[in-house]
Amino acid sequence: MNIIKLPLLFVIFLVHCQSPNVISSLAETGPIGNEAMISTTHPLATEVGLGILQKGGNAIDAAIAVQFSLSVVYPQAGNIGGGGFAVIRLDDGTVATLDFREKAPQSATKDMYLDADGNVIKELSKIGHLASGVPGSVAGMWELHQKYGQLPWADLVSPAVNLAANGHQLTEFTAKSLNNKQRDFIKVNSYQPWVVKEEDWNKGDTIYQKDLATTLSLIENKGRDGFYKGIVADLIATEMQSGGGLITQKDLIAYEPIWRAALKGTYKGFTIHVMAPPSSGGIALLQLLQGAEKYDFKKLGHNSAQMIHIKTELERRVYADRATFLGDADFYPVPVDQLLDPNYNKERFSSILEKKATLSTEIKEGTVNVIESIETTHFSIVDKAGNSIGITTTLNGNFGSAVMVKDGGFFLNNEMDDFSVKPGTPNMFGLIGGKANAIAPEKRMLSSMTPTIVEKDGKLFLVTGSPGGSTIITTVFQNIINVIDFEMTLHDAINAKRAHSQWLPDVILIEENAISEEAITTLEQMGHQLKFMPEIGKINAILVRPDGTLEGGPDYLRSDSYAIGY
Ligand code: GLY
Repeated sequence: MNIIKLPLLFVIFLVHCQSPNVISSLAETGPIGNEAMISTTHPLATEVGLGILQKGGNAIDAAIAVQFSLSVVYPQAGNIGGGGFAVIRLDDGTVATLDFREKAPQSATKDMYLDADGNVIKELSKIGHLASGVPGSVAGMWELHQKYGQLPWADLVSPAVNLAANGHQLTEFTAKSLNNKQRDFIKVNSYQPWVVKEEDWNKGDTIYQKDLATTLSLIENKGRDGFYKGIVADLIATEMQSGGGLITQKDLIAYEPIWRAALKGTYKGFTIHVMAPPSSGGIALLQLLQGAEKYDFKKLGHNSAQMIHIKTELERRVYADRATFLGDADFYPVPVDQLLDPNYNKERFSSILEKKATLSTEIKEGTVNVIESIETTHFSIVDKAGNSIGITTTLNGNFGSAVMVKDGGFFLNNEMDDFSVKPGTPNMFGLIGGKANAIAPEKRMLSSMTPTIVEKDGKLFLVTGSPGGSTIITTVFQNIINVIDFEMTLHDAINAKRAHSQWLPDVILIEENAISEEAITTLEQMGHQLKFMPEIGKINAILVRPDGTLEGGPDYLRSDSYAIGY
C-alpha cells in the first residue's frame, strides 16, 4: 500500500461504516471527497463505479459501468431495456448531452391504444408487450464509450456480468418493489420469470440472474451489436411476437442515440446546462428558474406558504406549456427559443398574484406562434480530472412493461405511455399532451428526465437529477433553489422536504410534515388544494464546495442511495 492509497481507503472505510440514518442525523454534509465522488441509487452500483475510477477510468467510464450494474441490482429502473439522457461537462468546460431515449417502433400508429370508438384501452400503453419502445440504453452506453471512454469496453460491462452470475442480496426497497409487482409479472409473461415467487421476497435474499449474465456477456464481447443484433435481438423479437408487441429486429438495428446541443440558462449568476427535447425537463426547468429569479426565497422562508404558493404558480404555467408545446423536436416544431425567451416568460408569469391561487382551469398554454412512474433512476459522478456526468435512465414504470424477455433475463420498458395516447387523456403521471407528443413511427416520447449540471463562475458547481416522473423537474428545481438561494449543504438540500405541482391535476403534492399547520391553512385560504404523500423524488447529486472538495448527495432518507468519495 502506498502513501496515496492509505487516506483514500480510509475515507471510503469511513463512509462505508456509517449507515444512511447515522449520516443523516449526525452529519451536516454528505460524504466528502477531495478528488472524486459518485452517488447512485444502489451501494453495489456505487462500488462498481468507484472501482472503475480507481482503475484509472474517467467519469464517463464509471457511468457506463454503473448503468450496466444497475440493470442487475436495481431491476425496477436500472436497465438495458430502457433509455435515458446523459449530461456531461468535461474539465475543460465542454458540455455535451446524449439522448438515448427509446423510440416508437416503426409500425407504431397514432391511435394504437384506442378502441374502435376512439376510447383509450385501459393499461395497453402501461403494461405488456405493446407498451415498449425500442430500447436505447445499450446503444447510448456504447456511444458514450466511443466518444469519451478511456478503459476497454469489456472492463466496464464485466462487473455487471459478475453481479448477475455470482448473485447479490436484495435490499428491502427492491424486495418490496418486486412483491408489489407480482400480479403484473404473472399477467404479462407467458412463462415464469425468476421475479415471480409464491412467498414474499425479503431483504437479504440472494438472487442469481444467469440469463441476464449471458446477455451482458454478449454485450461485453460484441459491444452494441451484442444487444441490437444476433441472439439477444432475436429473443426480443420473439418475445414481442409471442405477446403482440411491435418491436422487430429491424427496429433494433435502426436504433441510434443522438448527440444534441445542450440548452443553457442562468439563475442568480449561475449557469445551468440541461437536456433539449425530447426531454421536457430541460426547458421546463429553465422556464421555472427564469420565473424564480426575481423572488427572494430566503426572505419568504423555506417551505413557507408564500414560497410554496409562488413555486406552484410558476409550475402551473410551465406545465401547461409542457402539455401543449413539447415533444420530440425531430418530429414537431417545438418552439424552444420562444419558450426560453425572457420576454415571453416575463409576460407568462405576470398574472401570478401574491396571495391568491390561480385556478388551473383558467390557465391555458402561453401564446407562442405530459406524471411518469416514480421509478426512474439518476446517478452523478465527478472524476479526479474534474470531468462530470449525470445520467437519468428509466424503464418508465416500476419494472417497465413487466415483460421480462424470455431467456434474456431483462425487463422491457413501458415508455410508450409517455406519449400522449389521446389528446387530453392523462398518462400514468397525470400528464396530458397533444399533437406535439402524439405517437409516430420512430418518434421519441416526451420525457420529464432532467439531468442537470450547474456552473459557478465558469467552474463546475452541481451535478444533479432525480427519478419521479413529472415530479423530476420540480425536485431538481427545489434542489437548485436550496443550494443557491438557501446556501444549504447538499445533505440538507436533499433532506429538505419537497412539494410539487404540475398544472393538472390542480393540486399541490406535499411530502408529509413538510410545512406547518399554519402554512397549510394559509395555502388553503389562498385557494390551493393540498395532497400529502410520503415522498417525492430521489436525488443523487454532487456539489463542489467553496474549498474545491466534493460533497456527495445521496437521497438517504428516501432510497438506498449511496455515495462514495475519495
Ligand atoms: N418515463 C419517465 C420520463 O421519461 O419522464
